[in-house]
Amino acid sequence: MPLVPMRVLLDHAAEHGYGVGAFNVNNMEQIQSIMMAATETNSPVIVQASRGARSYSNDAYLRHLMLAAAELNPQIPIAMHQDHGNSAATCMSAVDQGFTSVMMDGSLEEDGKSPASYEYNVEVTRRVVDAAHAKGVTVEGELGCLGGIEDGHGAGLTGDEALAHLTDPQQAEEFVAATDVDALAVAIGTSHGAYKFTSEPTGEVLRMDIIAEIHRRLPNTHLVMHGSSSVPKHLIDIINKFGGSMKPTWGVPVREIQEGIRNGVRKINVDTDNRLAITGAIRKVFQEKGSEFDPRKYLGPAREAMAEVVKDRMIAFGQAGHADKIPVVTLDEMITRYSG
Ligand code: G3H
Ligand code: 13P
Ligand code: ZN
Repeated sequence: MPLVPMRVLLDHAAEHGYGVGAFNVNNMEQIQSIMMAATETNSPVIVQASRGARSYSNDAYLRHLMLAAAELNPQIPIAMHQDHGNSAATCMSAVDQGFTSVMMDGSLEEDGKSPASYEYNVEVTRRVVDAAHAKGVTVEGELGCLGGIEDGHGAGLTGDEALAHLTDPQQAEEFVAATDVDALAVAIGTSHGAYKFTSEPTGEVLRMDIIAEIHRRLPNTHLVMHGSSSVPKHLIDIINKFGGSMKPTWGVPVREIQEGIRNGVRKINVDTDNRLAITGAIRKVFQEKGSEFDPRKYLGPAREAMAEVVKDRMIAFGQAGHADKIPVVTLDEMITRYSG
């Protein structure tokens, strides 16, 4: 089956009340991990690549790896998504490279750091929606800014400044009406990377109530949670047991994500948890077998460790069991739908 527009997966998820994990990739093993987990659980797949991932792996490698994933797993609908596009040009270059979905992150200026004005966000997002929908490609927008800057993407907001940039539900309603995005990423207190919270998050720092209010106002818009790694302690412990030095930290508990799914969250972005699983597995091989130098002997366990995390999330988010039930819709059919 060819890569499918992400909208198709999110529509099915909304209809049946589940969420779909969107997992970041940079290389072959990560794509294989996701496909291993998806085939084992019969899950639809969203694979996403950041700008950094695209330049690290090169679009041509990425495109062919994704086409291989689709060829080898014809029963699994797969969407390929640009994560955090910083400009219309980035998004449209992804479309040219075969991505079936793009995020225009107009919450930040083109530098990917400075919070942008609402007017700029509407204008650039609307422009991407018009161009992408003309090709049947799905668009995710973002309103409000995530906290933190650990991975180099983000405004680095903390404290009161971060609170001031949480998504305003009233503005979300206006933004969706003005841009016609398929999916909306919201800022509710999460941040990218491993260091999200210094203790188990309460409702004061992780504002699930904002999601509920946005969903009440926009029941037909697919909501997206970024920074949704749970940062499980056992993965941090493995890294530290085998020579790492990660500090104590908390992520977004899976039960909170499930609460989000009950309130309209359909796409859940996870990168860090997979990075942690890969790193722990590689460290373990290196520490236990200092003489090992065959990359397959450490990338293989890393691939297995990531597949375990992805499988857990696919089951927890509810997407497991749905891959073969999703009606296939092509980009061409989406063009007709959008223009109708
Ligand atoms: O945007 C956040 C993702 O974790 C991607 O991170 O920009 O380091 O590839 P990256
Ligand atoms: P994590 O760093 O929590 O995995 O978030 C990833 C993300 O939001 C990618 O866009
Ligand atoms: Zn993100």
